[in-house]
Amino acid sequence: MMRVAILISGSGSNMVRLIESMTGAHPARPVLVLSDRPGAGGLARAAALGVRAEAVDRAAFADRAAFEAALEAALAPAAPDLIALAGFMRILSAGFVARHAGRIVNIHPSLLPAYPGLATHARALAAGDAWAGCTVHEVTADLDAGPILGQGRVPVMPGDTAESLGARVLAMEHRLYPAVLRRLAEGERGRIDL
Ligand code: GRF
Repeated sequence: MMRVAILISGSGSNMVRLIESMTGAHPARPVLVLSDRPGAGGLARAAALGVRAEAVDRAAFADRAAFEAALEAALAPAAPDLIALAGFMRILSAGFVARHAGRIVNIHPSLLPAYPGLATHARALAAGDAWAGCTVHEVTADLDAGPILGQGRVPVMPGDTAESLGARVLAMEHRLYPAVLRRLAEGERGRIDL
């Protein structure tokens, strides 16, 4: 059974979909949800789903090294095989990534390599793109640049705003992330396209 820790910063809608997918014959189980923000709405949602949920408050630490040491201390008892970032708004250091090499994945709201970083939907609209989407990738020391495990594509519609496009992409994220997680738990690293 693959043990999965999920890291969040916000409402955690992707986290909820991941947790809900890991039931029955699924070869993975959620063991821990961590947030860098104590006020993240996702913490209560995780707890309501019966998953241990804790905050490691970034604001309580002087620097990233101290924060990551606390993150490691919170993760260690859960002994995760996989760390799934789901709206986790912190950049992990090269050292942290190296300690968990090949065992951290992230979901990003663009068709990488297009639009790493923030404001992805506004940038896709400004560029006049016909398609947008989301990517699940392995996390490496380079931001939003690790090997791609899956992508989900949605059309850009006439009159779209960043909000309307973002909602369409988020619905695709909710399909893609559980699909990629399941494949990983089954030992498959082949890319999925939705
Ligand atoms: C998603 O769009 C994800 O791709 C991005 O942050 C958002 C998190 O949403 N990294 P949620 O917290 O899962 O609802």
